[in-house]
Amino acid sequence: TPGAQPLPPAINDTSSKLVYDDAHPWEPLRPGDIRGPCPGLNTLASHGYLDRSGVATPGEIITAVQEGFNMGFDLAAFVTYAAFIVDGNHLTNLMSIGQKTPETGPDAPAPATIGGLNTHGAFEGDASTTRDDFALGSNFLFNETLFDQLSQAAIDFGSNGTLDINSAAVHRHNRILDSMARNPNFTFVIPRYLTAYAETTFPLAMFVSNQTSDSSMTLNLDDARSFFQNHKYPDNFFRRNGSYGNDEVGTLITEVFELFPDILPGNNEGAGNYVLDPNDPGFNGDGTCYAYYKQTNFTLSLYPDPTDELRTALQQNLATFYITLGDPTCEEVFPFGQ
Ligand code: HEM
Ligand code: MG
Repeated sequence: TPGAQPLPPAINDTSSKLVYDDAHPWEPLRPGDIRGPCPGLNTLASHGYLDRSGVATPGEIITAVQEGFNMGFDLAAFVTYAAFIVDGNHLTNLMSIGQKTPETGPDAPAPATIGGLNTHGAFEGDASTTRDDFALGSNFLFNETLFDQLSQAAIDFGSNGTLDINSAAVHRHNRILDSMARNPNFTFVIPRYLTAYAETTFPLAMFVSNQTSDSSMTLNLDDARSFFQNHKYPDNFFRRNGSYGNDEVGTLITEVFELFPDILPGNNEGAGNYVLDPNDPGFNGDGTCYAYYKQTNFTLSLYPDPTDELRTALQQNLATFYITLGDPTCEEVFPFGQ
């Protein structure tokens, strides 16, 4: 059994470059290839930055998002491990970017799920940009109605009909209000509270081609559809210039949030009845540490009594997750021992 992986290195060159190049052609899905709720990872798989099967190791994901989109190493490592520890296979290091599959190797005993990124409520959550709430429809397939709503926000509020910070914030807010109104199980607490705002910034920061040194953060709707629906880079796509890491995402999330600062963490107790969670810091405290403890406890709930290599792998992967916090003010916890 292979042990858990160490983190891969950060890439050195974070300049802009053509990433839709001859070495990374888009290819349609083969039977069995898996795509899921993340248009970033879907696109990387369909261009061969990730294995085209849609099954990958955390190290491969961290390298691919840097290479293909210039996501910063710190953000990439934290997000990937926050997802991997609850959705991936600790013994094989494999994770599906979509549905559960035997391609990730033998399962650990229940209640471990090893369900891939489609798994609802582990990392994936409600009020997504172009995917439905789990309780209302598919939480991983592209949804034309939601893309139309995004397009309408772009037309009404975006600069020249684009997805920009204003129209993206409108759509983010609308998606939350819609879930509040219609989803009896709507859950909007960390980590989903943070990832919902993060995913709103990602198209602005990483789906805009830098072909003409464009740092405008305005995404036209054809290019948006190319990523969200077709997991495809637009022709001649250049990745952004400079990485999009923790500092950059923090700044942009704050800007998006402050356009509609009325949503606090909570969950519905029946459609239309949103109840706040007083323990969840949201953006008013140390959400990163809170997310670390929550994902760690969630992992423990999936692996209540692991033995042998599985316990060792869990220890190692949780240690790596802690490292991805960078220079945290939170204390490390060792639910599987040290
Ligand atoms: C959504 C995982 C990197 C763009 C998601 C979701 C997951 C996920 C599980 C679904 C969340 C939800 O809406 O419920 C990851 C992981 C990454 C990663 C593990 C590793 C670092 C990226 C990158 C980009 C990106 C690099 C852009 C270049 C998005 C967007 C959404 C999303 C725009 C919203 C999808 C929608 O609802 O339309 N991601 N992601 N992600 N991700 Fe990623
Ligand atoms: Mg979702």
